Amino acid sequence: MNEKLLNQAASIHDLRKLAKSRIPGFAFDYLEGGCNNNLALETNRAALNAIRLQPCYLRPSGKLNLTSELFGKRYSAPFGIAPIGLSGVVWPNASIIHAKTAHEMNIPFILSSVATTSIEKAAAHAKENFWFQLYPPKDHNIRNDLLMRARNAGCKTLVVTIDVPSPSWRPKDIKNGLAVPPRISASSIFQSALRPRWSAATLKIGIPEFETLKPYLQGSKNLKETARLIRHTLREVVDETVIKQIRRDWPGNLVIKGILSVNDAKTAYHYGADGIIVSNHGGRQLDAAQSPVNVLPSIVKAVGDKLIVMTDSGVESGIDIGRYLACGAQMVFSGRAFMYGTGAFSVNGGHHTYAILYSELKQLLEQLHCNSISELPNYLAA
Ligand SMILES: Cc1cc2nc3c(=O)[nH]c(=O)nc-3n(C[C@H](O)[C@H](O)[C@H](O)COP(=O)(O)O)c2cc1C
Repeated sequence: MNEKLLNQAASIHDLRKLAKSRIPGFAFDYLEGGCNNNLALETNRAALNAIRLQPCYLRPSGKLNLTSELFGKRYSAPFGIAPIGLSGVVWPNASIIHAKTAHEMNIPFILSSVATTSIEKAAAHAKENFWFQLYPPKDHNIRNDLLMRARNAGCKTLVVTIDVPSPSWRPKDIKNGLAVPPRISASSIFQSALRPRWSAATLKIGIPEFETLKPYLQGSKNLKETARLIRHTLREVVDETVIKQIRRDWPGNLVIKGILSVNDAKTAYHYGADGIIVSNHGGRQLDAAQSPVNVLPSIVKAVGDKLIVMTDSGVESGIDIGRYLACGAQMVFSGRAFMYGTGAFSVNGGHHTYAILYSELKQLLEQLHCNSISELPNYLAA
């Protein structure tokens, strides 16, 4: 643990505050926001807060084990880094910083297909911990090319996101012009000027682009055309037929992200998925959505013996990770927390976020007298 950084930020809330002072307003709004009236975001927080854990102080405490095994690989911690689109707009090279953290700390890193770092670059840094998230393109040649590139880069786990059948409605992003493609306005230039570290780093490496999708956007003559291509050629509404086709074409582990019901979890299993991520996209798509932590126990009960059940949404501490694990998840992903860390401390931010989450989770297990993460469900308060 870096003591100097710890003195400045000892929690994810501290990281958020520092990040806010370094990231331009339009990019911070994009990172932090939910959708519509931010109700799903608030529901996630309230639902996690309601999960209480019961210590067993008189139980003999033993050696702690925080590792988690998924798909035949043992990770050092039961949490990983969730896919973040437009990552380089939030902080220059954020996905490369996260890929390096994943490799060095031995946790999974999922690269978004609309991140601003390519599959090849991110995989070179995350190495054996590289997972790739796909928004399946309508054009099947492009889809198969992306799958081939991921395989050639050494990716063994593909994550297909199903919870964006329609672009979300995020009032702040709409007003800030942060859609696809971003609109550069006088206000965004002014906001960038107020954040010199972000501006200097962006100038140094250049305006972020959709690096993974770039080869398929060559024909587009202008930003409007790029937007049209991304919306109409590079995105598809994902239903069971699409999952069936991807299962046929992808020989590695297949994970479906955005599951919120027992029915969808069973369908994912039926069509050959190996794992699922129970998620409401961090409250960014459906403002009336259930919180993942509330649906997790019934999903684990229905498919937990057949599928690896993972989760995300709303993690603000190692305690939240413990709460999700106590409700039956085998791996918990975090999106915003790692981005806050990176906004706060640039290249050291991924490691520091990991250190905070790991230390908080370890302290939680010690406090409960719980020796391993698989035993956490026994500590749920009635
Ligand atoms: C700024 C931002 C961009 C995101 N982009 C993607 C994406 O491209 N693909 C995807 O599957 N999920 C995306 N997500 C959702 C995350 O992968 C994850 O589900 C969510 O962030 C978890 O909630 P948390 O941020 O509270 O940890 C994004 C989330 C945020 C905050």
